[in-house]
Amino acid sequence: MKILAIESSCDETAAAVVEDGRRVLSSIVASQVEEHRLYGGVVPEIASRRHSEAISGVVREALETAGTPLDALDAVAVTYAPGLIGALLVGVNFAKGLALSAGLPLIPVHHLRGHIAANYIAHPDLAPPFLCLVVSGGHSHIVEVSDYTALRVLGRTRDDAAGEAFDKAARAMGMPYPGGIALDKLAESGNGRAYALPHPAVEGSPLDFSFSGLKTAVINILHNAAQKGEEISIPDLAASYRKAVVDCLVKNFLAAADETRSETLVLAGGVSANRLLRRRMEAVCKKTGRALYVPPLPLCGDNAAMIGAQAYYEYLAGHTADMSLNALARRGIEES
Ligand code: KG4
Ligand code: ZN
Repeated sequence: MKILAIESSCDETAAAVVEDGRRVLSSIVASQVEEHRLYGGVVPEIASRRHSEAISGVVREALETAGTPLDALDAVAVTYAPGLIGALLVGVNFAKGLALSAGLPLIPVHHLRGHIAANYIAHPDLAPPFLCLVVSGGHSHIVEVSDYTALRVLGRTRDDAAGEAFDKAARAMGMPYPGGIALDKLAESGNGRAYALPHPAVEGSPLDFSFSGLKTAVINILHNAAQKGEEISIPDLAASYRKAVVDCLVKNFLAAADETRSETLVLAGGVSANRLLRRRMEAVCKKTGRALYVPPLPLCGDNAAMIGAQAYYEYLAGHTADMSLNALARRGIEES
């Protein structure tokens, strides 16, 4: 089954053709990040306009690269939630028009389910059940994946998402948007024990995360040093911050794995590219004999191949939409 998938939930316009959920025939990503960098973050209005301009060309390129004409497709899939509403609407409306004119089924896909499915592309042997840490710019979830379309959130962030926490701290340290990658790189040369940072826990909900206090602690360190005229080692601060965020992620993820007796652990989302997070999870899984699956770097960030992968399983579960499909800025990962 060949599915054309479209993704436009944030600042990447993407289209892909994916066969049977696992084989990527093409994957095109047009990033707007250079433009948003000028403003220090994604400007929703600009994102919507750029998606409108790019989407037709990106879809055409995906079909051409795959060598798949429209009439050889079996379905059209699209990210319909969650994300920036104006950005999502561009993809949803384009997909609806295409499905209607080509007489194809329309498959709505939850963006975070797509991030998890990036692993199905990279790891042919991976199948539910497993436990997944989904860490992106907008979300931080510990998700029990009991089947391809049966998911349950065991832990979530109470404030900032992990990616957002990295980006905000990086910005305070003077790095351009999105700072998560730059912070990770700089942290490689720093001492993660140089600055003592809090490891916030959520009382009564041991699997939930809270990152906003950590970000404030970094800003305070920077302000205090500036007031006293003291030098701060940015690589050391970046390494200390990265260590604190990763400590929290790993601790709760492992606690959830113990609680659910999960032997297969999976990382997903933009922050799963983080070097320390990958190293720490690899080491601990090796020690405890658990299987660990991580997406290859090009599949960590937003792309449409992951949407096409999840779409296949949504279709098999009977999850299709009619022409009344709408985009949703917020939507639980459990709700399909
Ligand atoms: O999943 P994603 O591409 O988009 C969303 O769905 O939000 O995640 C983007 C986030 C950004 O916050 C970015 O800074 C972060 O992932 N990120 C990283 C790294 N690479 C990307 N954060 C930490 N370390 C990285 N290596
Ligand atoms: Zn994403």
